[in-house]
Amino acid sequence: MTVHFIGAGPGAPDLITVRGRDLVAQSRVCLYAGSLVPREVLTWCPPGARIIDTAPLSLDQIIATIADAHAAGEDIARLHSGDLSIWSAMGEQLRRLRALAIPYTITPGVPAFAAAAAALGQELTLPGVAQSVVLTRTSGRATAMPERETLAAFAATGATLAIHLSIHVLDTVVAELTPHYGEDCPVAVVARASWPEERILRGTLGTITGLLAADPVERTATIFVGPVLGAEDFRESALYGEHYVRRFRGAGT
Ligand SMILES: C[S@@+](CC[C@H](N)C(=O)[O-])C[C@H]1O[C@@H](n2cnc3c(N)ncnc32)[C@H](O)[C@@H]1O
Repeated sequence: MTVHFIGAGPGAPDLITVRGRDLVAQSRVCLYAGSLVPREVLTWCPPGARIIDTAPLSLDQIIATIADAHAAGEDIARLHSGDLSIWSAMGEQLRRLRALAIPYTITPGVPAFAAAAAALGQELTLPGVAQSVVLTRTSGRATAMPERETLAAFAATGATLAIHLSIHVLDTVVAELTPHYGEDCPVAVVARASWPEERILRGTLGTITGLLAADPVERTATIFVGPVLGAEDFRESALYGEHYVRRFRGAGT
């Protein structure tokens, strides 16, 4: 018996991977993080599968459910939203499973920031403008930020910021970033990327708070900040340049 951790993607049910879908379809038990995993993904569960929303459960209760299924010889699909490598609480579950010698696999998913960038029609790294993307958040009720991971520290690099779990403190985000990027720096807020209710707000550090106050979006939103947003004045990638010689293509061919 194996626990299959699966990234369910950002919301649209067809943005789960083929591997993830197949693992859901072959597992007798499905545990899903109820708040963000779309219900349609659960239709891949086999008939008669036990389907459990873990939103109201503690870590102890989740592990006890997994241990029971393990003892009964059942495979488990463990679904989390987006990808598992960021803000999924997978790390603490894996540590418990290792201690219990319960085997697991990990299947990545489409992260929300990638779905949100697609909704914006935006590459987040443009030559000469920004070559780094910082995936970050602000302190929450359950999780404080490590002391050195401040928005100001990331902003000092000029990189593109993809700020999660923070739409409710947009005014603080704007106040911390404005000294570094300036009031005219573009900002985009994408709420529920890939869901039917997806929404996009575009503005600048100077205008976005007012725009959001006039037209509030729901909490599941990613805030992008940086000069790449909407930039048209960037040079083309040298990789595809006519005179760039690379392994599979000689100069000028
Ligand atoms: C707990 S984190 C989960 C992140 C997830 N593991 C991932 O790979 O994207 C939840 C945060 O991700 C962002 N998020 C999740 N789904 C989103 C979506 N469909 N559109 C925009 N932002 C989303 C929001 O900032 C939300 O507060």
